[in-house]
Amino acid sequence: MTLGNDPLAALWMPFTANRAFKATPRQLVAAKDMHYQSDDGRQILDGTAGLWAVNAGHCRPSIVEAIQKTAAELDYAPPFQLGHPLSFELATRIAALMPQGLDRIFFTNSGSESVDTALKIALAYQRARGEGTRTRLIGRERGYNGVGFGGISVGGIVNNRRQFGTLLTGVDHLPHTHNLEHNAFSKGRPSWGAHLADTLESIIALHGAETIAAVIVEPMAGSTGVLVPPVGYLEKLREITKKHGIVLIFDEVITGYGRVGGATASGTLGVTPDIITMAKGLTNAAVPMGAVAVSRHIHDGVVEGAPDGIELFHGYTYSGHPLAAAAGLATLDLYKAEGLFEHAQSLHGYWEEAVHSLKGRRHIIDIRNMGIVAGIELEPRPGAPTKRAMELFHKCFDAGLLVRATGDIIALSPPLILQKEHIDEMVGRIAEIVETID
Ligand SMILES: Cc1ncc(COP(=O)(O)O)c(C=O)c1O
Repeated sequence: MTLGNDPLAALWMPFTANRAFKATPRQLVAAKDMHYQSDDGRQILDGTAGLWAVNAGHCRPSIVEAIQKTAAELDYAPPFQLGHPLSFELATRIAALMPQGLDRIFFTNSGSESVDTALKIALAYQRARGEGTRTRLIGRERGYNGVGFGGISVGGIVNNRRQFGTLLTGVDHLPHTHNLEHNAFSKGRPSWGAHLADTLESIIALHGAETIAAVIVEPMAGSTGVLVPPVGYLEKLREITKKHGIVLIFDEVITGYGRVGGATASGTLGVTPDIITMAKGLTNAAVPMGAVAVSRHIHDGVVEGAPDGIELFHGYTYSGHPLAAAAGLATLDLYKAEGLFEHAQSLHGYWEEAVHSLKGRRHIIDIRNMGIVAGIELEPRPGAPTKRAMELFHKCFDAGLLVRATGDIIALSPPLILQKEHIDEMVGRIAEIVETID
């Protein structure tokens, strides 16, 4: 077998138009604070915190040092029937940041694994409390809950069904909350849409509460285009799930760690689910890690109710990996020492005004924002959906700004160390470039 001479051929890139990329490759070779450096030596302002993840900015020395030190001291420790101090310490620190009562922490390596872990915990809990008929899982249209079979089944993305078929059975979906007619150009949480949570009552009436284990939603859907929860919507989901004995899971893989305010969207919005999934900003993305925060009653239901031996038949070789735990501890220290969540909050108003100043620019049919997140929706090019946003993404990159294109939406979620001049630069570049696109 010959591999040929093409140095890009062997890598099958994830969620990438491989042929287009390899025809015009764009690579990143270094990063510092708010910027990436491209392989042709240019500084690229990071408008997306990598992938909604590098909340404290790039290559922060204290995180780098913590990883280096731990790599030399304890490269790896098996997490089954053994422990190491850093993972216990990090679990305690995470628990202290969660809403009251969600103080039991299970480690994973990614957002996708956190979602599948949360779904499995919900199923195990229902069984442990004698409600074994509750096996049905409810997600939401346009939900992105990662790429595991559980996550793509509860998620609401049509391409997963087109490419992978029927997925898990016994799954149903709430409607999404996106509505241009009622909510276009809303600032922050839209006032229309709380009633969409009532559909859960219809789903429960259809299937029977005794068949439903859990409901999972992102408090703010990020990856499918920044869908901000209507005022009162999450509160209704909480009320209905509680009434019917259904576990409520908030997928906070994006919304955690200062992205929309405090450590969680749940805490920021004052709606407490039973389980929270997280990843990304937990370690500032410096080492892969995810986690699931579980309420005490669910944890105790599974653990105390089990016979002697392993209580939850689940875990990963790298759960609580020492390098990830070290990165997580250093990241949480940095968030606190620099008051990064508070700093970001102090910019929420400026951010909102700046991104909404793009209203009226060519092709822009909606602008949405929450915390330090914005979604700028473009009118799809007739007969060629997604192409306009992809062209904007490429042109921005070539002009020194990293944005994210998802469908026909441009998403912004820069590191939380940003300053007003970075906001001005992002918005100014987009304002110019969007006018140059057909
Ligand atoms: C809400 C949500 N859940 C899960 C995931 C999956 O995370 P990962 O890519 O780390 O598996 C993502 C990724 O963007 C996400 O936004």
